[in-house]
Amino acid sequence: MGERQRKVHGIMICVPYQGHLSPFVDLALKLASNGIVITFVHLEFLHRKLCDTHYANKTDVDLFSKARELGLDIRCTTMTDPFPLDFDRDANFNEYWEAMARDFPPLVDEFVGNILASDRDMLHFLVADTVYSWPAAVTRKYNLVNVSLWTQSALVYCLGYHWDLLQQNGHFPCKDVADEEIKYVPGVESINTKDLIAYLKQSQCESVISRASRLQFEQAKMADFVLHNTVEELEPQALSALNQYMPNYAVGPLNFSQNLPTNTVTTSFWSKSDCTTWLGSKPPGSVLYVSFGSFVHTNKQVLEELAYGLLLSQVNFVWVIRQGILGDGATSELPAGFREAVKERGLVVGWCDQVEALSNPAVGGFLTHSGWNSTLESMWCGVPMICYPIGFDQPCNSKLVVADWKIGIRLCEDGSLDRENVAHEIQSFMGGGDLERLRQNVGRVSQIMKNAVETDGSSKTNFDRFLKDLKAKIR
Ligand code: UDX
Repeated sequence: MGERQRKVHGIMICVPYQGHLSPFVDLALKLASNGIVITFVHLEFLHRKLCDTHYANKTDVDLFSKARELGLDIRCTTMTDPFPLDFDRDANFNEYWEAMARDFPPLVDEFVGNILASDRDMLHFLVADTVYSWPAAVTRKYNLVNVSLWTQSALVYCLGYHWDLLQQNGHFPCKDVADEEIKYVPGVESINTKDLIAYLKQSQCESVISRASRLQFEQAKMADFVLHNTVEELEPQALSALNQYMPNYAVGPLNFSQNLPTNTVTTSFWSKSDCTTWLGSKPPGSVLYVSFGSFVHTNKQVLEELAYGLLLSQVNFVWVIRQGILGDGATSELPAGFREAVKERGLVVGWCDQVEALSNPAVGGFLTHSGWNSTLESMWCGVPMICYPIGFDQPCNSKLVVADWKIGIRLCEDGSLDRENVAHEIQSFMGGGDLERLRQNVGRVSQIMKNAVETDGSSKTNFDRFLKDLKAKIR
């Protein structure tokens, strides 16, 4: 029996999205730093995309080789999904997820079966993203411990977990225009229907993602352990309610775990422009960082109103406009003359190192779509937020930011995103008296997160407890 086979060995299968890949890789590094052997599975198309972007089209790059040089036993391998490599999975999101629900499970079954064919005792556990709808069947068939990694907030998990309860109470599907407080979901003291997960709303309840999410939460109920990329002190009620059903562990923020060599692994979907030099020329706290993450789309009108809003606000800004943000193949061109008009006041980039930007003293605010990773990163860096949630879990995250933690505001809350409102709100956010209060609050939250990943902190302790429970279940 080889050295690898004697150690506890897990296989990790991620979903091919930036906001999921980063915490997945962080967890792989964390497990491997604790002596666990990891087989990390990339979908072939994503592996190639990362290689194209960062290694000039070489396809045989081992993305974890640097981590291995540090002594971490992580092997990267690839598997195919149901589509050809050149299929545009972003533009054909619905078709892709329908096929992933229908045709991907047999591929995973075969893939895991092949690994185990040579040695039945080689793998002990599987970590899959909670958004997948197949882990229970595969882990049961191959006698693996089923670990689910939830990369979003515990609040969203509670709501999704109880979608049947929402249905019984007439809140799934929820009327798009409803304005009611929901107070019956275990772990959620109160949430307004306006802040619900977007795919619980009537207009989206029959969407592919809504159907997939219902399946996913039914699957999650069968997991042995659920890991959450959140912090216990920030979402105590949600986590303790979930613990009544099964073991849940808040181990976040994963990318800021102590001594994690995150920079040894390439996870960025796009190459990064440098903002540091430009930020270095701006006064402390004077720059608004603007980004809508890696995944959601917006439209030309929103882009235009934001552009004019930023222009009229007179505030310094870095604006990340990633390729494809309009989603319909349209080029995301800014209004004619925009760049000349903002001159030295604004920097527009296609992608950057977000944590590096948020950590820069010049950045004083973050206009964000409220993706969960962006939210955690902003909190860690102590940067107050202007929330402009677009879909999925984002309305819930912005509710946490604005109502619960009081570390941000909502952009154009009344729904009218026009340039004058945008300019006015940005101006008063960056220059207003309220900013000091938000900064103090976010400073406190940042400290809570930093304490959580310290040696005796809750996330570190929870992770150690998870490892102990995992090993006990394997033996
Ligand atoms: C998606 C969903 O939209 C989000 O709501 C969910 O919580 C996770 O999956 P995404 O939209 O990409 O993710 O948002 P977010 O979770 O914020 O993740 C974006 C990631 O991209 C962050 O880790 C951020 O650091 C990174 N990023 C963004 C960069 O590295 N550079 C950039 O220029 C912009």
